[in-house]
Amino acid sequence: MTLLERTEAWVREHHAGDSSGHDWWHIDRVRRVALRLAETEGADRFVVELAALLHDVGDWKFHDGDEKAGSRIAREWLERQGVDDAVIGHVCGIIDQLSYKGAGVATDMPTVEGRCVQDADRLDAIGAIGVGRAFAFGGKFGRAMYDPAVPPVLHATFAEYKSKGGPTLNHFPEKLLLLKDRMQTDSGRRMALERHAFLEQFYEQFLAEWAGRR
Ligand code: ADP
Ligand code: NI
Repeated sequence: MTLLERTEAWVREHHAGDSSGHDWWHIDRVRRVALRLAETEGADRFVVELAALLHDVGDWKFHDGDEKAGSRIAREWLERQGVDDAVIGHVCGIIDQLSYKGAGVATDMPTVEGRCVQDADRLDAIGAIGVGRAFAFGGKFGRAMYDPAVPPVLHATFAEYKSKGGPTLNHFPEKLLLLKDRMQTDSGRRMALERHAFLEQFYEQFLAEWAGRR
């Protein structure tokens, strides 16, 4: 087996049984889209595929808010596989910077490989799949679908974003509807347009139905 095949098998097992929108198929979709972006952006396909496969193995949302768990777990795996130090550094750097940290928090992604993976991860949070994942996540963590008494918050720091979990519909203005303007590659930005339009339409329709207007 190649390193990519071994990594895929290990990652599949890692995400088995997830019902929060972070299952193996999320990883598989992110890989597919990231490789598509890599093609047009001229990025290194090997680094992009490895980072896409490993990007959620230690997500802070499932590790008591520990932001470094992801890169640590990925690094241990890659070291055990005897991967080149430079590649490990690059992949783990991408994983460290990947996550969304709040509306007012900038995240810096210095390489084109990282930008492809980050855009692909964000594309999977919008559009029809994004709607499905948001409600799966909310259900898994016991959140209400919507509560008109709880207004959305544009989080200014990562600590604030991490600590506050409101109703799932609030996640749309707090994060999902902001993602299209945070895309970092031209090809990712193009793909985000249609998905964003769908998300906006869903959001408006949801509120219209809630109010009994439609
Ligand atoms: P990120 O690294 O940006 O957090 P992930 O790949 O971990 O991205 O996935 C984020 C997914 O989890 C999105 O689809 C998003 O809708 C969902 N999610 C995260 N937080 C919430 C929340 N508070 N309410 C609903 N969905 C959420
Ligand atoms: Ni992800």
